[in-house]
Amino acid sequence: LRAGFTTVRNVGASGYSDVALRDAIQEGEVEGPRLFVSGPALGMTGGHCDNNLLAPEFNYKAEGVADGPWPLRAKVREVIKHGADVIKICASGGVLSKGDAAGATQLTLEEITAIVEESHKLGRKVAAHAHGTQSIKDAIRGGVDSVEHCSLIDDEGIRLARDRGTFLVFDIYNDTYILDMGAKNGLLPEMIEKEKQVGKLQRENFRKAWKSGVRMAFGSDGGVYPHGDNWKQFPYMIEYGMKPIEAIRAATTEAAELIGIKGQAGVLASGAYADLIAVDTDPLNNVNAFGGVKFVMKEGKVY
Ligand code: ARG
Repeated sequence: LRAGFTTVRNVGASGYSDVALRDAIQEGEVEGPRLFVSGPALGMTGGHCDNNLLAPEFNYKAEGVADGPWPLRAKVREVIKHGADVIKICASGGVLSKGDAAGATQLTLEEITAIVEESHKLGRKVAAHAHGTQSIKDAIRGGVDSVEHCSLIDDEGIRLARDRGTFLVFDIYNDTYILDMGAKNGLLPEMIEKEKQVGKLQRENFRKAWKSGVRMAFGSDGGVYPHGDNWKQFPYMIEYGMKPIEAIRAATTEAAELIGIKGQAGVLASGAYADLIAVDTDPLNNVNAFGGVKFVMKEGKVY
């Protein structure tokens, strides 16, 4: 909140910690941004959203793990029962997980389609983690509302997203942070290796996708790097093809539309939330201005 982010979509949290935090903020017990949360991310056994660190004797599974269309529909119902505003799925492998390739398909098209149908029926949007070329396309064809990471997206994937109006959310600051700090922070060597495989391609594909006219929302996979540094993604969005005003829109009007609060957040209008930040230089000339947030108001209250 103090870094100037008055609304946050948090996708993937164990133990429903995000639901608890959202409610505590709403009730004024804790200071923070308005949260839209997913609870545990849904994914396959042994996939990116499972936890693969323990020996088999533990028989451990992350809370959002299920296999097959109906078990995954049941998971959608379960996380909504416990407070999810939005559904997060892991369509492909990932970087910061053990034993899976970032580009590998994980959930099948059949599974994704079932999850999306169940989620939309219950009024929830679906955000899909996908680095892999095929998984990105499966996620879009399955009807998700946004694809996160998008690292290895190809021309067909870009076209599909553009035609369907699917939001692409590229966390292109993370590569810098993971390569600088990952080893020091104790990441597994295989994770750093995977980052080297996808990081650069993700940035090049950001440029390509933006040029081709897809919709993009600001999303940075906050939590991979320290909170408060969220603004650091802006300069990369400029370096890889956006104008400052376009990056600002991605973080305001576009993000609000993706979350489903168009007209309430990301705009200054009568009847909207009255969220406002101020910086000390003109961000239209230099987005580094967002590193110097001097004033934050959320719903009319100054923090
Ligand atoms: N949570 C993501 C994953 O583990 C982080 C990916 C970060 N790397 C990147 N180039 N964006 O897959």
